[in-house]
Amino acid sequence: MKTISIICQKGGVGKTTTVVNIASVFSKLGYKTLIIDLDPQGNVSTYLNYDKMSENHTDSIDLLEKKESIQPGQISENLDILSSNTEIAKFNEEKIVGGSKLQQAFRHIKFKEYQIILIDTPPTMSSLVQEALAVSDYYLIPAKPEFLAVEGVAQAMEFAKKTISTIQNSNPIFLGVLLNQIDRRRSSYLDFVSELEYLLADKLLTSKISQTAEIADGPFYAKTVVDYKDESKSKVEYFDLANEILKKVGLNEEVTEFSDNRY
Ligand SMILES: Nc1ncnc2c1ncn2[C@@H]1O[C@H](COP(=O)(O)OP(=O)(O)OP(=O)(O)O)[C@@H](O)[C@H]1O
Ligand SMILES: [Mg+2]
Repeated sequence: MKTISIICQKGGVGKTTTVVNIASVFSKLGYKTLIIDLDPQGNVSTYLNYDKMSENHTDSIDLLEKKESIQPGQISENLDILSSNTEIAKFNEEKIVGGSKLQQAFRHIKFKEYQIILIDTPPTMSSLVQEALAVSDYYLIPAKPEFLAVEGVAQAMEFAKKTISTIQNSNPIFLGVLLNQIDRRRSSYLDFVSELEYLLADKLLTSKISQTAEIADGPFYAKTVVDYKDESKSKVEYFDLANEILKKVGLNEEVTEFSDNRY
């Protein structure tokens, strides 16, 4: 089981979009995948048209409260969710206080049936993000190619490093920065990428996600990239990204949607 947190204190950089789309691709490729939403906004559920207030399943608040029985809801084959809602904000302290609630819950629950767990986090530097890092093997920082992003990425990296140093029994590995919402036609794009490459070296993921209307409209129709046509640029980009992540976390050799019969 590999647990990956998607973090960045900057809002709107694509954390939730990344989580729901790569989770869909992983599940489509046959990996049993669980999304844990730790954001009070509960956007994962909205993106996936999932009823976050339903009484029929447990959610990430139950997990933080260390309830005895945790029963994730199902989105589709191989894809489950522990959703979130505004109630989770009661755990969101500005002070970083240990990150031990989820660690205790994970010790108890184990989640053995899942090969991949993805955790969506709020755009804050707060204890909910620390809880996520405390149970993660890896973390990923999405960024938009814009002027202030370099500063945003540096702050996110600094926060992660500092937070991880306060967590006992956990040392998640930085998977890298994912450039999202890129537009190669913009003149500043190449300058921006070369600056990030200089700063991050191999911590800038090779896969990059373009800004497309398909992704922007995805939540509106409760669609993720797996529902798009094969020739869709976004679909190809997300499968490439999933591939890169699978390799980095040691889960698989080359898998592509076109060469793999599971897809
Ligand atoms: N590659 C993309 N192309 C087009 N639109 C995108 C892309 N990535 C994200 N968006 C849009 O940008 C907005 C913000 O994305 P998202 O909700 O994933 O960011 P976030 O980091 O999770 O935000 P928050 O910090 O508020 O949780 C959404 O409307 C989303 O549909
Ligand atoms: Mg979000």
